[in-house]
Amino acid sequence: MDTEGVQEVAGLLKDLPAERGQLLPALWRVVEHYHALTPALIGAVSEVLGVAYAEVYGVASFYTLFDNIEGTTPVHICTDVMCALQGAEELKAWAEQAAAGLPITVKESACLGQCDHAPAAWIGQKILRRATPQVVQEAVKAVHHG
Ligand code: FES
Repeated sequence: MDTEGVQEVAGLLKDLPAERGQLLPALWRVVEHYHALTPALIGAVSEVLGVAYAEVYGVASFYTLFDNIEGTTPVHICTDVMCALQGAEELKAWAEQAAAGLPITVKESACLGQCDHAPAAWIGQKILRRATPQVVQEAVKAVHHG
């Protein structure tokens, strides 16, 4: 990432102390802002927080919700127990169909904390509760168009 890009990330994280303990909030902000966590963004976070790239990468790749090093827009479909019982696999298939040919990666997610409203999905900035195939397909297309 060029100097300008690193400065943009620095602006995004300006109120966070530059320390390892701020990795999770920093990564959340970057993902929310860029809808991706590319190697370049990981490098920028590393530089801004003064934490080794390998360590930032390790945290980013450990948490599946951050795991987006391919740089596509992630669509998370919860496939944990409650959502599995409410048709998560079918929902995932519908999401994959809607995402076909788009720079979107449909991922299985662990529990999104919405068990009472299963099945759940996290698309763009929104958590979808009691998600239906139609709602998921519309959300996938909307996240692509911004
Ligand atoms: S199991 Fe899907 S939100 Fe909890």
